[in-house]
Amino acid sequence: MKKRLVFVLGILLLAAGLVWSGGAGEKEKEVILVGTSAGFRPFEYKEFGTLTGFDIDLMNEIGAKLGKEVEFKDMDFDALLEALNAGTVDVIASGMTIYDERKERADFTVPYFTANQAALVKKGSGIVLSSVEDLNNAKFKIGVQNDTTGAFWVEDNAPDVTLQKYGKYIECIQDLENGNIDIIVVDQPVAEAFAVNRPVVIALPIITNEQYGLALQKGSSLYEPVNNALKELMASPKWDELLDKYFGAK
Ligand code: ARG
Repeated sequence: MKKRLVFVLGILLLAAGLVWSGGAGEKEKEVILVGTSAGFRPFEYKEFGTLTGFDIDLMNEIGAKLGKEVEFKDMDFDALLEALNAGTVDVIASGMTIYDERKERADFTVPYFTANQAALVKKGSGIVLSSVEDLNNAKFKIGVQNDTTGAFWVEDNAPDVTLQKYGKYIECIQDLENGNIDIIVVDQPVAEAFAVNRPVVIALPIITNEQYGLALQKGSSLYEPVNNALKELMASPKWDELLDKYFGAK
């Protein structure tokens, strides 16, 4: 009788163990699909073909906290919200500004970065800008990335210029270097990175005080865990390490 009880208990334990490990195994396989748009150094860019940057590290840290794998999908910036709503990606990590119209299409986490815009010109162009009025001149062709707050800012504040929109900043910067456009309006931290790596300089800082957030599908079950993990990360020493890694040597 006793032997039989031990046997039955043993079987039960074995079964519980199998269910347990099966469940855990499934959890390990869970992947967060993250949409980003590389070419936005230091937030997301390719180095020797590998995607890297502040947002990439940030998402990997969040994934680690949640015990989930993180897989990135690189696309044009103006395709991100559509991909989110189509369910092709679960999270957008792309230096995306928390912006009223976007809030209708996505839920944003707490802000994780504050940035302004800047007007970038080719080195030696002779273009001097001391105010927004200087910039709003019909003689200027201004390049922006499609659907960015830089584009919205130019549309709202410099109606006299010719606006040229690009899918990627790399095409935009090439056109600036080739003289096809005169100015680029882009987020200041990115303008600063371009000024280090390319023959361009910041001609005018533009104060917009925007805040970046991660974007998730409205009502996503991932919202709370991701938002909490981000808050935790921002309160930890790792956050200063990340800031230092990408912005320290300025
Ligand atoms: N912060 C700006 C915006 O939200 C520009 C973001 C562009 N990001 C990128 N990865 N290209 O519109």
